[in-house]
Amino acid sequence: MEKLKILGHRGASGYAPENTMEAFRLAIQQHADGFEIDIHITKDGEIVVIHDDTIDRTSNGTGNVTDLTLAELKQFNYNAGFEQEYATAEIPTLSQVLELVKTHNLYLNIEIKDIMTNVGKYDGLNVAAAKLVQEYELVDQVIFSSFNHSSMVELKQACPEISTGLLHFSKLYQGEEYAKSANADALHPLFSIVDKSTVEQAHQQGIQINAWTVNQAAVMEEMIDAGVDAIITDFPDVAYRLRESK
Ligand code: G3P
Ligand code: CA
Repeated sequence: MEKLKILGHRGASGYAPENTMEAFRLAIQQHADGFEIDIHITKDGEIVVIHDDTIDRTSNGTGNVTDLTLAELKQFNYNAGFEQEYATAEIPTLSQVLELVKTHNLYLNIEIKDIMTNVGKYDGLNVAAAKLVQEYELVDQVIFSSFNHSSMVELKQACPEISTGLLHFSKLYQGEEYAKSANADALHPLFSIVDKSTVEQAHQQGIQINAWTVNQAAVMEEMIDAGVDAIITDFPDVAYRLRESK
């Protein structure tokens, strides 16, 4: 079995502004194996890394990402919540993150925020992002995920070599069979529904289990003991210390 991966959730977002280059660089310093990011599309068709549909919560600006061009988005400061530690923080493009992943030989989980309430708004974002991953020759180091499982099925059909994961909050009946029927490579469950037998059943069918968002040391230990493939956490340093102490 491969070594447990530690992925910084939105970077090392417990210590630095989420989904910024600052948070990704810190995750690298904290020995993360990579990070989880969220992507959206701009008015001018650029793929940017940001969690929400709007820039209101994380920046000093306002507005929908889809109503702003990349140049407009870049004018704002994305250091919300960390103004003391970080005077500035820039919204990254997916290309900037892929460059960083390539340089440091990391692993990347790209969550597409194409949930059902956004149907129509993000048509083609899954495949467009996958094409970029292919251009950077990072197919083996990237996994896509979404709560919109149809989007992951569609992505796999368009780009069979791209890895996909199905995000879910609640326990799935025969989740590994469900994942296989969607041609997915992984299930991405909320940590609280993960247990050892679920992980074992998934592994028997060749399905990975990547748990989120695991922020307490005690829960990290539970996930490690359950045998998950990756821990997605705001605190990569804590997960790293625990993994290395095992
Ligand atoms: O990828 C798991 C996790 O990131 C999903 O929730 O809201 O943090 O994007 P959220
Ligand atoms: Ca996410």
